[in-house]
Amino acid sequence: MNTNNKLSRHCVLVTGGTGYIGSHTVVALMAAGYEPIIIDNLSNSKASVLKRIKQITGKQPIFYKIDLWDIAALDKVFQKYSIASVMHFAGFKAVGESVTEPLKYYENNIQSTISLCNVMTMRDVKKIIFSSSASVYGETTVIPIKENSLTAPASPYACTKQMIEQILKDIHVADPAWRIALLRYFNPAGAHESGLMGEDPQGIPNNLMPYVSQVAVGRHKKVNIFGNDYPTSDGTGVRDYIHIMDLAEGHVAALKKIDTATFKTPQIINLGTGSGYTVMEILHAFEKASGKVIPYRITKRRPGDIAACYADTKLAQKLLGWKARRNLADMCADAWRWQSQNPTGYP
Ligand code: NAD
Ligand code: UD1
Repeated sequence: MNTNNKLSRHCVLVTGGTGYIGSHTVVALMAAGYEPIIIDNLSNSKASVLKRIKQITGKQPIFYKIDLWDIAALDKVFQKYSIASVMHFAGFKAVGESVTEPLKYYENNIQSTISLCNVMTMRDVKKIIFSSSASVYGETTVIPIKENSLTAPASPYACTKQMIEQILKDIHVADPAWRIALLRYFNPAGAHESGLMGEDPQGIPNNLMPYVSQVAVGRHKKVNIFGNDYPTSDGTGVRDYIHIMDLAEGHVAALKKIDTATFKTPQIINLGTGSGYTVMEILHAFEKASGKVIPYRITKRRPGDIAACYADTKLAQKLLGWKARRNLADMCADAWRWQSQNPTGYP
């Protein structure tokens, strides 16, 4: 690759940019005037999402099929473009699988981050936004959850998130010129409002929203509700579901912040709505959005699940001037538009 291709707009390297959250964030970045450079090894996503991004934005996104472990290939991308900052979404994310195959998770999530940070150091790029997760809080007893709550990751997946946060904190100690945002997502849900992009899990979905929407479209017979004996309003688990485009816009707000402000330490920020909904409420909201009856049965609790979890969102509002704008009805309507128009996901 040569260096003649430097783009004039602010280039943001988006690792994992063909995945669920990354692809929606690419759309938000383009809408905000940034030039995203996507890299992904397509281990959990499809290249066809790129066409959908073009349909929505009118512009073909720049994409390289690269594994983050491949330092030489990664470095070529850094040499080719004037990358100003990085959004690091790439990684494995299935909690249950991380319990049965922990090495796969430690190996991929940690090694790919180290590889990325090495190249960033070599090329003097020191701004990064990292996809962390509310799962680092584990079974906390105080809700809404604040950023300074104790962490107690309950799975190898969540441990990788905490370890990567630590690695980035240590990098900042060694060189305080780094500007780092550690975004802890609550439960991303929904799809782009066009219905062209959405969540496309491989195999049977682990998470509630995609499972419910696949039942609505006829891919599964009924939703298994994991327990109705929690101390919540109807006995089913409460979570903080955040619309994927709100989450994407939260990243753009975080990028603007790290471009203009320095933090004394890496900044941890919750991205959620601050409101919780039960499983039954989700089911009913989805029935309303889709016009379908969604059959369900109550089964036993899923090991490791907690009763209720939602974010304290004050810090995000104060630091980023950002808060979620879309509600549960929007999440269900957009998820249904995506699922009904693309019953088997991306081609
Ligand atoms: P996703 O699986 O849809 O996207 C991740 C992308 O990373 C995939 O496209 C995959 O192909 C790519 N990838 C994985 N390993 C790679 C490697 N070594 N090199 C290059 N590409 C690689 O997941 P998502 O839901 O979009 O999540 C994005 C990030 O946000 C992940 O780090 C995840 O842990 C985190 N997160 C997700 C959720 C959620 O509910 N979706 C919640 C909290 C945090
Ligand atoms: C899960 C992960 C968490 C991750 C988050 C990202 C586990 C234990 N936790 O969280 O680490 O950060 O996804 O979105 O996997 N439910 C059902 N039936 C289903 C699926 C889920 O009743 O088929 C219930 C669950 O018990 C829970 C709620 O729905 O009460 C949400 O579950 P899910 O979508 O899997 O998210 P979390 O468990 O919050």
